[in-house]
Amino acid sequence: MIIAIDGPAASGKGTMAKRLAAHYGLRHLDTGVIYRAVAHAMLAAGIDLKDEARAAEVAMTLDPSTFDNPALRSHDVGSAASVVSALPRVREALVAFQRQFASAPPGAVLDGRDIGTVICPDAEVKIYVVADPRIRAHRRTLEARSRGEPADEAAILADILARDERDQNRAVAPLKQAPDAYLLDNSHLDIEGGVRAAIDIVEAVRAGRQRV
Ligand code: CDP
Ligand code: CDP
Repeated sequence: MIIAIDGPAASGKGTMAKRLAAHYGLRHLDTGVIYRAVAHAMLAAGIDLKDEARAAEVAMTLDPSTFDNPALRSHDVGSAASVVSALPRVREALVAFQRQFASAPPGAVLDGRDIGTVICPDAEVKIYVVADPRIRAHRRTLEARSRGEPADEAAILADILARDERDQNRAVAPLKQAPDAYLLDNSHLDIEGGVRAAIDIVEAVRAGRQRV
């Protein structure tokens, strides 16, 4: 089984994907971390974020063992990731890795922006997670403060809106709901409620398939 979860920044898709993977005994890939790793390597090497040739080289030589580096989680790296992820050659360089991860047994949950539309268009279950931008900014603010980092909620909201705009309007693999994806608005759900709603969707899809 492949489960594709897409949605905007801080919608809660990563938490949901991880929990679904544990529930169904599947592997989990947070695909945002891949773009974050490219952006982080470019920032560290002082490479212009719009230099597509060098960005593609960084993407092709990425080492997955660096994906758990906590520095990748910062807000600035997330914003830089949304700039490099708009470069078509960067996206191309990362497709094969994501598809291989998805198709290896016993199956996987992938979360990102284009999983249901581009990476795994044949995924058994697709969920498009959304939440009000102010709620997303508030979640990110709490997250930063819990790590002991200062957080300006208004600035985080502005950044989230700018990132939504960039992710939704890029020419290649923009953030959008696949026609066959289930919409899940978790603005007013806590993590448990969101996970339960997602499991209900998976179970409904499976039950529907058995009837066919
Ligand atoms: O966790 P958050 O939603 O804030 O960001 P992320 O999922 O780590 O993704 C960081 C950036 O990578 C996004 O703003 C997207 O521009 C890009 N991304 C993408 O283009 N395609 C994906 N499948 C995943 C992330
Ligand atoms: O992966 P994505 O950026 O979409 O979001 P996330 O990292 O899973 O969640 C962003 C923050 O919102 C985390 O701190 C979650 O604990 C929190 N969250 C929440 O408060 N309520 C939810 N229903 C889902 C996530």
